[in-house]
Amino acid sequence: MRQVCCLRGLQKSYLRLLALGIAALMTACHGSGPIGPQTKRHLLPIPEPGALSQPRSLQQAGLPVEATRAAVPPDNQETADKIALGQKLFFDGRLSADGTVACSSCHDPARAFTDGRQFSIGIKGRVGQRNAPTILNAIYNTRQFWDGRATTLENQAAFPILNPSEMGEPSLDAAVARIARSSEYRQAFEKIFHAPPNATNLVRAIASYERTELSFDSPFDHFIAGEKKAIDPAAKRGWALFNGRGRCTLCHSAKAGQAEVTTFTDHSFHDIGVVRVRANIVAMAQQADQSVRPGDMGAIDRTAIQSDLSVLGRFLVTRDNADIGAFKTPNLRNLLMTAPYFHDGSHPTLWDVLDHYNKGGGVNDAFLDKDMRPLALKDAEIDDLVAFLASLTSPEYRKPALKELERQRNVARSTRPFRDTARAFAAPGPVG
Ligand code: HEC
Ligand code: HEC
Repeated sequence: MRQVCCLRGLQKSYLRLLALGIAALMTACHGSGPIGPQTKRHLLPIPEPGALSQPRSLQQAGLPVEATRAAVPPDNQETADKIALGQKLFFDGRLSADGTVACSSCHDPARAFTDGRQFSIGIKGRVGQRNAPTILNAIYNTRQFWDGRATTLENQAAFPILNPSEMGEPSLDAAVARIARSSEYRQAFEKIFHAPPNATNLVRAIASYERTELSFDSPFDHFIAGEKKAIDPAAKRGWALFNGRGRCTLCHSAKAGQAEVTTFTDHSFHDIGVVRVRANIVAMAQQADQSVRPGDMGAIDRTAIQSDLSVLGRFLVTRDNADIGAFKTPNLRNLLMTAPYFHDGSHPTLWDVLDHYNKGGGVNDAFLDKDMRPLALKDAEIDDLVAFLASLTSPEYRKPALKELERQRNVARSTRPFRDTARAFAAPGPVG
């Protein structure tokens, strides 16, 4: 319900902003609202590193072995010790200012390294503005974060440690100093890097661990490898729609319109109409341009996680008007473990996501991607597309995903808040 607070409060807070300056906006929603009992940090134990947190095998159907090896940077080669150190750090609350939040708090292996919430919760129950993406297969991302503000996993890991609404450390050195109190960590850093703990090697170890979280071997991967019966007829029809009338491969593929079955993303950014605040978005962009220095990645990170200007998406990074409201095309694997969907977690089920696409995004303005248009998909075709997406579930999540599919199906049977049949079956409007 926080999102409603933020969106409704937006017009008001923008006017206030003109009068009072940017400080008002930076705090308009974040941290000032009531924090319910479920957001109290002490009620959210840090997930433990269980079986699902172990480094994964390269022997999985669909896993691109050469590309995986090539994605490891020359200056951060992997060793078993380094990966083990990164894993320990990933689950360690000591990287946060008050010891209550680890990377795994928002990237829980049991939920395919997400948190199951609309918005993530950091120290002191602070609620952010974005939905936590998975780190499974993050090795293949050419840019990290929904707006791509980090380029490498090493670079990315520093941001949540420093963000006041996530782990809240005043500096990376403060985080390093805390873990350096442990002789176990001091010994591990000496052994691996031949130096006492420092920030550079801290993020290197975490990134090395993340690069081992590879998730393929789904029924769909076996189908593509030639096992004709690995997926059912509904998923096969869904796959045809994904490549055809659904227009999904225009973005969820390395080459527009051409199926690519490794990561299902063009590694690019689009406004697909998820952002509902559109009337004053140009004014917000101008405001961001004045208040957030271009290239100041710390300030951009705080704006993305803590302020209403988060809706500007990729624009915050590039300052190109064409990027207003644009977010990264995500990978589509293990979706049943990563609900709710989109950068703002606004869509609770896969049926809701498909309803969104079916109505062409539901908006028609200059920022909407030109490839978004009504799809005229019938209910049975939407079911088939969901069946296809469900076939992208890796074996380690098969059981909970089946349960989640039934849960979502039941929710969708009784409520379809994003459905707009008239729009879905309307002739495509003017594009641009
Ligand atoms: C308080 C919750 C929270 C914590 C703690 C947290 N993250 Fe995240 N993480 C998020 C959210 C939310 C995003 C998306 C933010 C955005 O895109 O603006 C994200 C994004 C990422 C991404 C980018 C994935 C992609 O597909 O773009 C990676 C990788 C990642 N986090 C790793 C980490 C690591 C490593 C740590 C610990 C050092 C960590 N996270 C701590 C919530 C959290
Ligand atoms: C114009 C490019 C484009 C097209 C066409 C497109 N997508 Fe997307 N998709 C995106 C982007 C960008 C996002 C993230 C948007 C956001 O969060 O604001 C996304 C998000 C998603 C998500 C949510 C994933 C998550 O982790 O939250 C799903 C599921 C999805 N798309 C499936 C599909 C399907 C199925 C189709 C075809 C019916 C499709 N997409 C067509 C670009 C596209």
